[in-house]
Amino acid sequence: MVNPTASQRRRLIAAARQAAKAAYAPYSKFRVGAAVLAGSGRIYAGCNVENASYGLSNCAERTAVFQAVAEGERRIVAVAVHTPTGLPTPPCGACRQVLNEFGPKAAVICTCRAGRPLETTVDQLLPSAFGPNSLARPAGGSR
Ligand code: THU
Repeated sequence: MVNPTASQRRRLIAAARQAAKAAYAPYSKFRVGAAVLAGSGRIYAGCNVENASYGLSNCAERTAVFQAVAEGERRIVAVAVHTPTGLPTPPCGACRQVLNEFGPKAAVICTCRAGRPLETTVDQLLPSAFGPNSLARPAGGSR
């Protein structure tokens, strides 16, 4: 894990909190914001975007990651997630998988309305992950 500096950490948390304000969550009313610190040092934010066809809803974390990748980033150093809860809430399973693709060692900082942030890493949240290396050609394989 490359630890973000104190200033990057502050900016990341602020960006996640700010992004939650843009959440489109008319169904769950659960407004989530996320921000990723990418390899370039830039920060990309995202919010959850729900859909009347509920299963098509996208989490804040994935919105932020996809935004970063669409801008050319390929490495995620840290992610902050802000939820409107009394306790910090770590990313869902689907988002853990997507974060693993670009930042298996990334720091994860989860903040909420009150209390201390939860601090962990992607590999702690998703041990033994299926990732890019899992697709390496099998020995003696025909592919
Ligand atoms: N949500 C996120 O944005 N991130 C998570 O890690 C968990 C859940 C969103 C999805 C949905 O819009 C709402 O929160 C309720 O599940």
